[in-house]
Amino acid sequence: MNTLSIIEKLKTEQNASREELVFLLENITDSEREELRRAAQEKSLKIFGGRVYIRGLIEISSYCKNDCLYCGLRRSNKNAVRYRLTKEQILSCCEQGHALGFRTFVLQGGEDGYFTDEVMCDIVSEIRRRYPDCAITLSLGERSEQSLQRLFDSGADRYLLRHETADENHYARLHPDIMSGARRKGLLCTLKKIGYQTGAGFMVGSPYQTIENLADDLLFVKELSPQMCGIGPFIPHKDTVFRDFAQGSPELTLTLLSVLRLMNPRVLLPATTALGTIHPKGRELGILHGANVVMPNLSPREHRKDYAIYDNKICTGDEAAECIRCLSGKLNAIGYQIVTDRGDYKSE
Ligand code: 5AD
Ligand code: FES
Repeated sequence: MNTLSIIEKLKTEQNASREELVFLLENITDSEREELRRAAQEKSLKIFGGRVYIRGLIEISSYCKNDCLYCGLRRSNKNAVRYRLTKEQILSCCEQGHALGFRTFVLQGGEDGYFTDEVMCDIVSEIRRRYPDCAITLSLGERSEQSLQRLFDSGADRYLLRHETADENHYARLHPDIMSGARRKGLLCTLKKIGYQTGAGFMVGSPYQTIENLADDLLFVKELSPQMCGIGPFIPHKDTVFRDFAQGSPELTLTLLSVLRLMNPRVLLPATTALGTIHPKGRELGILHGANVVMPNLSPREHRKDYAIYDNKICTGDEAAECIRCLSGKLNAIGYQIVTDRGDYKSE
């Protein structure tokens, strides 16, 4: 086995075996990383042509009934400041976002019992009514199949639910006993079956993660073939069990972005805020490694700092308009343009 032939195989066959992926991730040299990066960038330029899609992120609630060990919004974090947006506040974020050119709104929040199907379907159908030209993405954690179906019927188009790690034993070390990796992966199939453009994803460098775990994540994504995949480095949060663990590495995250692009050429791949948080040029580097989506924050400024899933999150002080101008400038400087487009997954 050698790394260059594995990179070649990723380019031509869009796949590799578990053993090859482990070997590649363990042995890749700096010059080979550059070769992989170039191949992934070339692939994304061929498909998306230097166009970067933007998604307006609206963080609707910092309440969460879950207790994921890594997350600053976990229920047991008594220091977390909790807020939830009203329907009017959410609609006002959409209004500002639409004026700024956003054609996708991502409503993200902890698993907050306040947002019942009735409350959520009312919000989704109102956004759908006011903005027929926009995509509505939900990222609200685990809900029943019936609930996900009702939200879809109310007008939601997409759903983000990271699998976090494909290995169920590893999953169990990151989550309380009542959560299950098998259930989580099953829900991703349910989302696809309902008809959502579905987003999976995982953290890079989460506690106890092995290279084999990452190979399994890559193979899980390949098999599920989701329309979107969000990956970002693990970043410790001071009020969680994992406060003393090291953060994930930017290099490894970027390498995985490139492998994901080669294995899933058309997947919508964000350069995440977490990547921008651990590296000053994280998001630009993400784009140069094959990512094609950025998700600027549209949440009301006064609540930004309270949606703290990890420490030192960037962009918590800027207005949405400032954020998008800043990102736009950074992307133009590397030869890419932000586009006003729903940016749907295109199967060909
Ligand atoms: N570091 C990095 N990412 C995190 N997430 C949650 N906590 C952290 C953390 N400490 C990610 C999870 C979740 C998404 C909303 O944020 O992958 O799905
Ligand atoms: Fe809510 Fe982690 S505790 S997503």
